[in-house]
Amino acid sequence: MLLSKSDRVFALTGAGISAESGLATFRGSGGLWEGHSVEQVATPKAWDTDPALVWRFYSMRRRDAEAAEPNAAHFSLGKLEQKMGDRLFLCTQNVDDLHERGGSRNVHHMHGSLFESRCVKCNEPFPDRREYLETLPVCDTCGSPVRPHIVWFGEVPLAMDMIYEQLDQATVLLVVGTSGSVYPAAGFVHSARQRGIQTIYVGPEEPLNAASFHRIEIGTAAAVLPSLF
Ligand code: APR
Repeated sequence: MLLSKSDRVFALTGAGISAESGLATFRGSGGLWEGHSVEQVATPKAWDTDPALVWRFYSMRRRDAEAAEPNAAHFSLGKLEQKMGDRLFLCTQNVDDLHERGGSRNVHHMHGSLFESRCVKCNEPFPDRREYLETLPVCDTCGSPVRPHIVWFGEVPLAMDMIYEQLDQATVLLVVGTSGSVYPAAGFVHSARQRGIQTIYVGPEEPLNAASFHRIEIGTAAAVLPSLF
C-alpha cells in the first residue's frame, strides 16, 4: 500500500497483534481463565463481588505481559510512526505495553492500561506494575480501594471524542488482529466507510465485520505488517 504525504492513517489494533508475542487472545483461548469466563472477571460486577479474584487475574496479566517481547508487527507500527509522525494515530484495544516497547510513542489505549491502577474515588490513574495476590491495594490519599485502570465490559472506552476526531481526519483505516465483536471499536470501520476512506484488515482469519472492509489481508500481523506500507 502506497502512502502519500497527505495521507493520515488511523490504526486500530486488538489482541491478535500481541498473539505472536505469546499473549493469548480473548476469544481464541476459549475466553477462559481458571474456569472463569473473561466476562466473569472483567466487569464492574466481578469487582463488586470479588475484587481479590479480579486483582489475581490482572496480576497474572501483568506477569505475562512483563515476560512478553514486542514482535515484528509492533516494531513496524513504531517505524511507521517515525515516518509519519502525528499523521499516524495508533489506537489499541490492548492493555499491554508492547506497542510502546516496539517504538510507538503515541499510543491511545482505549480499554485502559495494564500497568496503571486508580483509586475508585480519586479516579486518577498512576503507574503500577505490582502484583496483588495476597493484600489488596488501597489509596494512599483516601484509603479507598484501588482498581486496575482497565475499561471493563459495560464501561465506556477512554477518550471516544478524540478517537472520532482522529477517525474524521484519517484517509486510511488499518485494523489489525481484532475479532470485530466488541463495540464501539468494531464500528470504526462503519464510520470510516461512511466517509469513503480506504479500509484494510490484517489477521489470520476474517473478522465478524469483514464485509465492511475494502481489503482483507489474510496472514499474521508479524508476517503482513512489515511489508504492508
Ligand atoms: N496476527 C493477527 N491477528 C491474529 C493473530 C495474529 N498472529 N492471531 C490471532 N489473531 C486474531 C484472531 O483471528 C481474532 O480475530 O486476533 C483476533 C483476536 O480477537 P479477540 O480475542 O476477540 O480480541 P479483541 O478483538 O482484541 O477483543 C476486543 O474484547 O475482551 C474484550 O476488552 C477486551 O480489548 C478486548 C476486546
